Amino acid sequence: MRATDLSPRFVQLHQPRAGVAHPELIAGLMQTQARVSPKYFYDALGSRLFDAITELPEYYPTRTEASVFEQHGADMARHVPSEAVLIDLGAGSCAKAARLFPVLQPSAYVPVDISVDYLRDTVDALQQRQPDLPMLGLGMDFSTLFDLGPAARDWLSDRALAQQPRVVFYPGSSIGNFLPHEALALLCQAHAVCEAGGAGGGLLIGVDRVKPRAVLEPAYDDALGVTAAFNRNLLRHVNRLIGANFAPEAWHHSAFFNAEESRIEMHLHSTGAQTVRWCGGERLFEDGESLHTESSYKWEPEAFAALLREAGFGEAQHWTDAKGWFSVFWAPA
Ligand code: AVI
Repeated sequence: MRATDLSPRFVQLHQPRAGVAHPELIAGLMQTQARVSPKYFYDALGSRLFDAITELPEYYPTRTEASVFEQHGADMARHVPSEAVLIDLGAGSCAKAARLFPVLQPSAYVPVDISVDYLRDTVDALQQRQPDLPMLGLGMDFSTLFDLGPAARDWLSDRALAQQPRVVFYPGSSIGNFLPHEALALLCQAHAVCEAGGAGGGLLIGVDRVKPRAVLEPAYDDALGVTAAFNRNLLRHVNRLIGANFAPEAWHHSAFFNAEESRIEMHLHSTGAQTVRWCGGERLFEDGESLHTESSYKWEPEAFAALLREAGFGEAQHWTDAKGWFSVFWAPA
């Protein structure tokens, strides 16, 4: 049966609701070092701005990762099972996974993203181009809990795919946007998802590596100001969610490498003293005071391999580019 007879399908487990309490978001705004989780970058405009970032000359990770897949894809395919259910975490435009379909030959594609509307559009478009590949879009905030859930499990069972190996694909070094203990929790959940499928599954994950500051910092503070716009757009998203009155033009973007923590930090700095209000609260930001919006950890391969082992995966394999800037790991479940 052609997949189009049953698809496209979409399950929305995440509802980005405006006007309801977002206690975690408000608690972050009230901390001494104010912070907002980077997941709030990805409303529809934020997802498109991120796509633009990946085209910038300064933003090396996307290009470099693509070169690793291009150079080593055939070797990867010797380790990664074909006919697997390909679960694409943070799928966005779905472009990276789609490029791997000819190499990995999946039996089904399950893209997962918090940006529900954007994912719905991209899955619809991809299903048109690939009518024979069963696809299920999952609109989900996997940063809090990653589990396929009953609807997706039923969808797999209905198509006799429940016992296919599962390959969790997590490219782009998005794992770097988690604190190390959060990254470990997510990897443990990914391991459980793989183990629930047939034998041979595992995790295919892209990880950005430590490199000179002169390369790292411009990647997060580009000459055109696209990353600055991406950072400020988070304020508009927060305004919608909690009825806040952040004025994006009153905030200055900054990005620097914190070598001690091995991470890029992105901040927004208040240009002048200002009180920001939202439904049920307010905060005074002093001139120059920062709102921490993102950390992007850069991992040494040995440290990341140890994290994978701690999460329950078997001995990992990894491939890199000529400069050793970016690694792709295959970790069998
Ligand atoms: C999605 N994530 C891996 C990007 C990164 O490099 O940490 C997000 C990003 N932030 C600024 N530029 C790109």
